Amino acid sequence: MREELERIGQQAVNEISLVKRESDLEKIRIRLLGRKGEITMLLRGLGNLPVGERPAMGNLANQIKIKVEKALAERKQALGSSEREEVTSLDITMPGRENWVGGLHPLTRVTQEIVEIFTALGFQVALGPEVETDYYNFEALNFPKDHPARDMQDTYYLAEDVVLRTHTSPVQIRVMESQSPPVRVVMPGRVYRNEEINPRSFTVFYQVEGLYVDRDVTFGDLKGILVAFVERFFGLSVPIRFRPSFFPFTEPSAEVDIGCILCAGKGCRLCKKTGWLEILGAGMVDPAVLAHVNYDPEEVSGYAFGMGVDRIAMLRHGIDDIRLFYENDLRFLRQF
Ligand code: PHE
Repeated sequence: MREELERIGQQAVNEISLVKRESDLEKIRIRLLGRKGEITMLLRGLGNLPVGERPAMGNLANQIKIKVEKALAERKQALGSSEREEVTSLDITMPGRENWVGGLHPLTRVTQEIVEIFTALGFQVALGPEVETDYYNFEALNFPKDHPARDMQDTYYLAEDVVLRTHTSPVQIRVMESQSPPVRVVMPGRVYRNEEINPRSFTVFYQVEGLYVDRDVTFGDLKGILVAFVERFFGLSVPIRFRPSFFPFTEPSAEVDIGCILCAGKGCRLCKKTGWLEILGAGMVDPAVLAHVNYDPEEVSGYAFGMGVDRIAMLRHGIDDIRLFYENDLRFLRQF
């Protein structure tokens, strides 16, 4: 038993001197000195020894117990002070690292704001693909085969009859194909046109399309919803006007202007001295379009509109160059 005790003691002291973490010291303490620890059990077994041997053996066991406890305590202190050394080597006068918080792109935010106004008015949201077929982008929207908008100049062709959509109107067709009237949806998304790049136009931009088809939908309903939108987005004091226009898929068609926000209608560079800025195209869905999706033009009518998100975002934030939205210069983007 004497040898056993001495062996345990020596081995423990060696082991403790090698420990690197405080939690390992605790494990060793439990293994040796815990309620069922090796040394504890030996001390308990003293009662089985002949009476004469008990005092000497008890004494030895206690000495070893004390030696192990001391080794544990010393090692613990040594580990603690080396941890403290590391802490004091931190330069607490060093300036902190800046935390950059990401944010939504201004076009994303304006798109969301527009969509929220319409969902509050009872519209659903639908999305469609950016790569479209000629059928959805043009044919079903009543573009005659020789319409100039189909020219290679405006449209990016990926293959014969496959294009990057030039507007969000093809989503109208997809929605009407997949559900029967009444439909009331807004369709946000990115569109592409092979246009000259300048402060007012870029090859990529965003639109929010709107469509409402039901019994007895009138041009008055269209005006009502668009006036409500402009009032909510730009405020009550901004004037709005409807101008007659043309789109192959609406009849009659209109373009909608709002009073120039920069010059309050006096005439400036942004509004080209007219005092008005165009923000969207709209009209009553052409019966030929309804027929393409097997809606009965005798039974239902509808209105549609498509607004330019970039233009609206420029007005909202007083930005005079559309290209800023696509350069991803953080100095610009962080302002929003
Ligand atoms: N798609 C048209 C454009 O991009 C806008 C529009 C949408 C016009 C819906 C009328 C109805 O110019």
